[in-house]
Amino acid sequence: MKISVIGTGYVGLVTGVCLASKGHQVICIDKQSEIVNKINNKMSPIYEPGLEDLLCKVIEKGNLAATTDLKSAVMNTDISIISVGTPFGDGKIDLSYIESAAQEIGNVLNEKKAYHVICVKSTVIPTTTDSLVKTILENTSGKKAGDFGLAMNPEFLREGKAVEDFMFPDRIVIGSYDQESFETMKKVYQDFFDAPIINVNLRTAEMIKYTANALLATLISYSNEVSVICEKVSCVDVKEVLEGVTLDKRFNPRVNNQLINPGMISYLRAGCGFGGSCFPKDVQALSAFSKEMGYSPSMIQATLEINEAQPYRLIERLHSILGTLENKKIVVLGLSFKPETDDIRESPSLAIIKGLLAKRAKVIGVDPIAIDNTKKHIPQNDSLTYSVDYKNALKDAEAAILVTPWPDYINISPQEFKELMKEPILVDGRRVFDKSSYEAAGVQYIGVGLT
Ligand code: UGA
Repeated sequence: MKISVIGTGYVGLVTGVCLASKGHQVICIDKQSEIVNKINNKMSPIYEPGLEDLLCKVIEKGNLAATTDLKSAVMNTDISIISVGTPFGDGKIDLSYIESAAQEIGNVLNEKKAYHVICVKSTVIPTTTDSLVKTILENTSGKKAGDFGLAMNPEFLREGKAVEDFMFPDRIVIGSYDQESFETMKKVYQDFFDAPIINVNLRTAEMIKYTANALLATLISYSNEVSVICEKVSCVDVKEVLEGVTLDKRFNPRVNNQLINPGMISYLRAGCGFGGSCFPKDVQALSAFSKEMGYSPSMIQATLEINEAQPYRLIERLHSILGTLENKKIVVLGLSFKPETDDIRESPSLAIIKGLLAKRAKVIGVDPIAIDNTKKHIPQNDSLTYSVDYKNALKDAEAAILVTPWPDYINISPQEFKELMKEPILVDGRRVFDKSSYEAAGVQYIGVGLT
């Protein structure tokens, strides 16, 4: 099929490249000519494992090109997939990029005779596609929905695994306005053999996406809430508690007597909170939408509140041990919201750095690839420096807080901490270190959900 993809962020570009690799003819559209040039020169504007290799292949094969010219792209394709950003701002989701994309497509449809399907892939609150997008398209094209197709096809791509998740989806959700829209969208995914296709209405597709992200975020906050209770009771370790819970066969079944360890249970772990470009924004947007509809969603709200408080709890525990944090040299191990990415959006590291600075500590932020991005949020100053060299950073430090479980950091041995630091205090924000072996080597250990 001939497909336009509007917006070349990580969702749009991954979608375009992966669909092109399945043999579709894809045109990626972006307003920024530098991004368009990069793509046409076979360079990925974002880092995502496997993406640039696949991009090279599909461009060389002639299956993908990028342009700033939305009109010619829409004119010459059968489907437009909208994958522009939907940030959270001013207390609710910002749909302005969706609005302008719909407007521009509608203007083209006004002149286009052939049937065209508009598919929203961006994460949007329920009713966006069948009210806002549909109305804009109808007003600008002078046509009625049905004359053009309308679909909502959410993405379930994890950063760092986006290509793999796209190529091997566990389900494909297609919300459709009518049967013709659905049949057209089905052809887009006809070569994704094993994945079940779920055919629902437009607003259900939108709701599935939010519910999925809010559930995973809630598992994390639930684990963190349990960790606080465990900290209040001495000699109860949240890690053991959650392990005891998730060995239930309903969470973790055995096949041929082997535990299958479903990915979902890795969200049932206590730590310093969730971050990234999706969970915080989506959970906030769902909560704001629900309130707008007249229902205050207390559990979703609690998920956010627990997550906001969690980084500060670590700082408070460190504060109570040291008495004061003023002028104490503290190393924050890891800045990105998870390993294998330089994305620091809503990363717990930002709250931790700010919290430490508010207590007048001397902070060193350490990360292999996320320092430049972090500096844009919190610039270096007299009390804050950054380093890629964790060994150098740890020299003479009073405490280290593990935020991002990068392999290099979780493999720092007790002896290394002991040799490098003054009187080492290790705050384990991810519960990856073994308390007893670190304590045996003379490292004071503070773990989430354990006293
Ligand atoms: C998340 C979802 O996992 C994707 O399914 C969804 O498509 C995507 O948002 C999106 O809406 O676009 P992503 O933000 O890349 O993907 O990150 P995750 O790997 O899920 O991590 C989110 C948070 O969960 C992080 O703070 C991370 O530390 C935490 N996490 C991640 C866990 O607690 N356990 C894990 O096993 C993985």
